[in-house]
Amino acid sequence: MSSKSIYRAIVGTNSWGSKAYGRVLRGSSVDKETLRQTVEEAMERGLAVFDTAQDYGLGQGQKLIGELCPRTAKISAKYTPGTKYVKGQVRRSFQKDLNDFGRDHVDIYWLHLPNCIEQNLSEIIELYKEGKIGGIGLSNFSLDECRTAKAQLDKAGVPLFGVQNHYSIIARDWEKNGLVDWCRENGVQFWAWAVLEEGLLVPPKKGSRLSLMKLIFLNKQSRLLPLYKKMHIIGKRHGITPAQVAIAFCSSKGIVPICGCRKPYQVSDLDAAVDITLSEKEIEVLEQTADSTGVKILGADMFRFAVKK
Ligand SMILES: NC(=O)c1ccc[n+]([C@@H]2O[C@H](COP(=O)([O-])OP(=O)(O)OC[C@H]3O[C@@H](n4cnc5c(N)ncnc54)[C@H](OP(=O)(O)O)[C@@H]3O)[C@@H](O)[C@H]2O)c1
Repeated sequence: MSSKSIYRAIVGTNSWGSKAYGRVLRGSSVDKETLRQTVEEAMERGLAVFDTAQDYGLGQGQKLIGELCPRTAKISAKYTPGTKYVKGQVRRSFQKDLNDFGRDHVDIYWLHLPNCIEQNLSEIIELYKEGKIGGIGLSNFSLDECRTAKAQLDKAGVPLFGVQNHYSIIARDWEKNGLVDWCRENGVQFWAWAVLEEGLLVPPKKGSRLSLMKLIFLNKQSRLLPLYKKMHIIGKRHGITPAQVAIAFCSSKGIVPICGCRKPYQVSDLDAAVDITLSEKEIEVLEQTADSTGVKILGADMFRFAVKK
């Protein structure tokens, strides 16, 4: 395994497991053998961190992680409030995760939404103190919510490992409103989910299979043509694809990209992309071009509808 930092890029698994999900949303599904090869590629390249949650792959994603990932792989899992679990049931949900993984420990455990922060976090802290969790993270939290949560963790003498929010070239709200800087100042990792915007930041190829996401993207894709062009030019300069430019855009800023990988080449692309450092000028060009397209994506607003205090 590579000696580079294990948390330099994360393998996202939300499209692992459900054939229906893969076909409808992504235009195709992948078989277990392909996922097995994807895991092998990740392990060989030292990208041995797999991000998941109970609903990924319509419930199948976690079970596949348990089946396919070796013990040396790290698992990033989540407690999702407001699903089938109610107040006081973090431990119950966590136990289901452990059963799916066939393990007695989870490396990073995220509170998936800022719901009932104090109650949920105190239950997660308990698990951490029992040695069942390696690091605690917050997902889809605003800056104020992060501050509140960190104060509670500080009081309990527990470090905050990371914040996991939506971020990409075209969704930079969390940077503009100070959250990314706050993470840097506090030694907290910022993990970006959907750095490829579920495929929207992958310039379309002629003849590719239609999917629900592609239909949703149609209008936005044509407006993003100037951005695709810049991604192509910058990628060519560094010997990488436009999709890899979207990944390198994050890693060049010290943001950890989580990229949805279900094929071995996607893992090798991810690995190569995070080794590239884009210049400040290149980053500026990408940001200005993205802003000039006027394409809006739900950034900081994403999932706020599900936040219940
Ligand atoms: N914390 C949260 O609330 C939250 C929410 C959403 C997601 N996440 C995490 O973030 C991860 C990433 O999000 P995502 O999977 O939805 O979307 P994503 O990573 O932004 O995009 C995935 C899409 O990009 C394509 N792709 C991947 N690697 C590529 C490459 N090297 N070249 C060209 N295309 C490539 C995939 O193609 P194929 O269709 O061919 O595979 C798929 O269509 C999730 O898997 C999950 O772990 C977290």
